[in-house]
Amino acid sequence: MKIAISGKGGVGKTTFAANFARWLAQKGVTVLAVDADPDASLGSVLGITDNVLADLKPIVDMKELIEERMGGSGAFYPLNPNVDDILDDYCIYVGPIRFFRMGNIKGGGTSCYCKENSFLQALVNSLILGEQDTVILDMGAGIEQLTRGTAMGVDVLVIVTEPSKVSVQTVKVVQQLALELGIPRVVVVGNKIRNAKDEDFLRDRFSSEQLIGMIPYSDELLEMSINTGSDELPGGSLGVNLNTIYQKIANEGR
Ligand SMILES: Nc1ncnc2c1ncn2[C@@H]1O[C@H](COP(=O)(O)OP(=O)(O)O)[C@@H](O)[C@H]1O
Ligand SMILES: [Mg+2]
Repeated sequence: MKIAISGKGGVGKTTFAANFARWLAQKGVTVLAVDADPDASLGSVLGITDNVLADLKPIVDMKELIEERMGGSGAFYPLNPNVDDILDDYCIYVGPIRFFRMGNIKGGGTSCYCKENSFLQALVNSLILGEQDTVILDMGAGIEQLTRGTAMGVDVLVIVTEPSKVSVQTVKVVQQLALELGIPRVVVVGNKIRNAKDEDFLRDRFSSEQLIGMIPYSDELLEMSINTGSDELPGGSLGVNLNTIYQKIANEGR
């Protein structure tokens, strides 16, 4: 099963992705957690130490590897380089969870990053269409790593949102992109909900079919960005709430 997570910066995508990955792992599912957000933090929230993370270069920055797979200089390079082994070679384990950091193409300037782009697209392709394990992709607000070809392989796109106008606006943009790409199922999860007014705000903007759950504002979840690395999932009513949401998403799988 392939699950992509998107939404505006700061809404709680990474926290959601990390807990979902842990929940799946606890159920005995083999999970590959992929940090595909330019604003990378999944590794840290999963509990990988700063030292290890500093040594773990994002794959897109591995110039030699890219040269090796894409061929030397010039405008000609393979459009479908073989990258199937790269995931195995460059991921690291956090407990039972495999972790992999994609990195992003630095746009702007005058250089052409066509080669790097093709390489990343081949990787995403291999991740979504070739990988046997369950994959959780922590993406940014943009889902440009997905193409029409790979989008069909994503079982469900989860868009996380806060109860705010700007965050909901981002959801609408991502929903439209997802529609154009042909992602089969797109769901919305409300996060940092403080009261009934927050709930109503989101219920007024999304159908119950779209909005599959709401997560309260919680100090326990906030703490996860400070005391990273605990593989304990929240218990109590928050745990029950999260469990219901994760189960709904897992049920979307084929
Ligand atoms: N339900 C929640 N209640 C309180 N704080 C939360 C909640 N979800 C996430 N956070 C906090 O919000 C901040 C941003 O979360 P993060 O997952 O990094 O967002 P994103 O990946 O979307 O940028 C972090 O400090 C995180 O601990
Ligand atoms: Mg994040």
